[in-house]
Amino acid sequence: MVSTDVPEQLKKFEIPDRITMLEGNGELPKIEVNSDWSTAEIYLQGAHVTDFQKKGEPPLLFTSQCSRFAVGQPIRGGIPVIFPWFSAREGMPSHGFVRISDWELHEATTVPDGGVSLRFGFSETALSATLPPYRANYVVTVTDQLTLELIITNASGDQNLNFEDCLHTYFAVEDINAVSVVGLKGLNYLDKVESFALKAESADALKIASEVDRIYLDATGPVEILDSKLRRKIRIDKSGSASTVVWNPWITKAQQMPDFFNDDYRQMLCVESGNVASNKIVLPPGKSSVLKVTLSSMPL
Ligand code: BG6
Repeated sequence: MVSTDVPEQLKKFEIPDRITMLEGNGELPKIEVNSDWSTAEIYLQGAHVTDFQKKGEPPLLFTSQCSRFAVGQPIRGGIPVIFPWFSAREGMPSHGFVRISDWELHEATTVPDGGVSLRFGFSETALSATLPPYRANYVVTVTDQLTLELIITNASGDQNLNFEDCLHTYFAVEDINAVSVVGLKGLNYLDKVESFALKAESADALKIASEVDRIYLDATGPVEILDSKLRRKIRIDKSGSASTVVWNPWITKAQQMPDFFNDDYRQMLCVESGNVASNKIVLPPGKSSVLKVTLSSMPL
């Protein structure tokens, strides 16, 4: 659908040859970004990056062709923004409510190196009622890298803001059997596949050969995904993040997921940066926390 069909308040952010507003899948508003180096797509629902691709390279992110694109439903793939809780919570949406809520686009600018930066804000919804007042902002910068900054501010005068956050990134890989993950050795992790058993990572290079669902704790360093079939290395640099989550549902879970093809588990790996479980954030009144992640890729 052409950009004339999107709301005026979005169209005013268009920049010729750089930013175009479109109606995306499921008629949800979508932002297409074109930098000198790369292209990207972001849905306003969830401020959800569904695609990032360097020119001349396969997509960096995986989004399932089977994903739902519907109001109030999570998108399966890309980068769901997780806040204020991670994982399931009884009677509440899994992974919090901001990934299934509309964000506002506050600013769209070009940056000097031929890139584009977009700043989103989240206005509180009824589901925020249990939290002290807060502000959530999200800055997505598209160059030859993808940089993501989730800024949470405690706007209360007298209460701490307790929360988990996470950028739940689905990476595209050629074949999960040819992938290894480096940078986790020596860390403790909660193994969700074995009832949250606390274990220590011993692998220099983690291979994925069955369901993997691990929360690495006190994990502040960079992680690399080595994709030997694609001959690509993906690097995840981060700050303001004390947890790394590694997830692949493998065969049985994939078959149980309605928004994921049975074989999709072969083409993706989630390596998520955030602050979850015992690394959750307790933010004093008036303070901000900044979770910053930079994704880059290079030949392997
Ligand atoms: C991961 C969790 O981050 O997200 C998994 O560790 C979970 O346990 C997965 O299954 C997907 O969650 P959802 O709510 O998007 O299906």
